Amino acid sequence: MLEIVSSKGALGARLEGLDRAKANEPELAATLNRALAEHLLVVIPGDPMTPAQTRDFAAAFGKPQTQLLRYKRSGEVPEVSVMVSTLMTDGTTDKTALRAEDWHTDDSYFAIPAKATLLHSIEIPSQGGSTWFCNMHSVYEALPEATKKRIDGKRAIHGYDTPRARNRPSPRTPAEIAETPDVEHPLVRTHPDTGRKALYLNPNRLDRIVGMERAESDALLDELADEARKPQHHFGHVWKRGDIVVWDNRATMHRVMIDYPVGETRIMQRVLIEGSRPV
Ligand SMILES: [Fe+2]
Repeated sequence: MLEIVSSKGALGARLEGLDRAKANEPELAATLNRALAEHLLVVIPGDPMTPAQTRDFAAAFGKPQTQLLRYKRSGEVPEVSVMVSTLMTDGTTDKTALRAEDWHTDDSYFAIPAKATLLHSIEIPSQGGSTWFCNMHSVYEALPEATKKRIDGKRAIHGYDTPRARNRPSPRTPAEIAETPDVEHPLVRTHPDTGRKALYLNPNRLDRIVGMERAESDALLDELADEARKPQHHFGHVWKRGDIVVWDNRATMHRVMIDYPVGETRIMQRVLIEGSRPV
């Protein structure tokens, strides 16, 4: 019997007693999607799965899509990417792991960003490496009225790389570069399921606000990011091996804590669920 237990924090719920193999049954899938839209983040405890099982489970939330970086795709199941973020003593840790340490939302450099992201832990370090989530509905609602007026109707440019990000991203192949031109999104978007407004921010990818000088745009983006950094909007998930976590990219940001021991394996499977154009 499925039980949805709210985290009682800024966002998040734990789904207890869910039979993962039945997640695609229409009634259950509808329940899962309602829980996602309401809580923005669902945690489903269980055992590690194969990439094919993970893809099939993810389909309860929509269409799994292949991800940009080819080298991460799981061989036989290209919709599942294998994210290895083990910290190496020689400093060769995958750069995307380090970039993920700052707040971001997945895929905003695409015209149609992913609706949701699923992460499934296969191996976790003995300590650290938790993932933190930010409720972008509550961030928007907490903004001063004057700031809400300033950003109302504004659009912003998202790029694969921007000088505003703290770190440079993983290099792309020519094919990957061709797939990632800069795109424009509204700065405030409306959740298609609930009608709630959310600030659509991504400090890793957001370059500038359309129609503003760089300095003015930088100052405003910093002010918005400062609100999102307040702990009242956050929930942290401490991983157990086999956990599935699904979050709603339409109204959240997330970051990983890179505070786990060097040399300890950290492997996640990741699936992105096809989304719709932000409005
Ligand atoms: Fe991410």
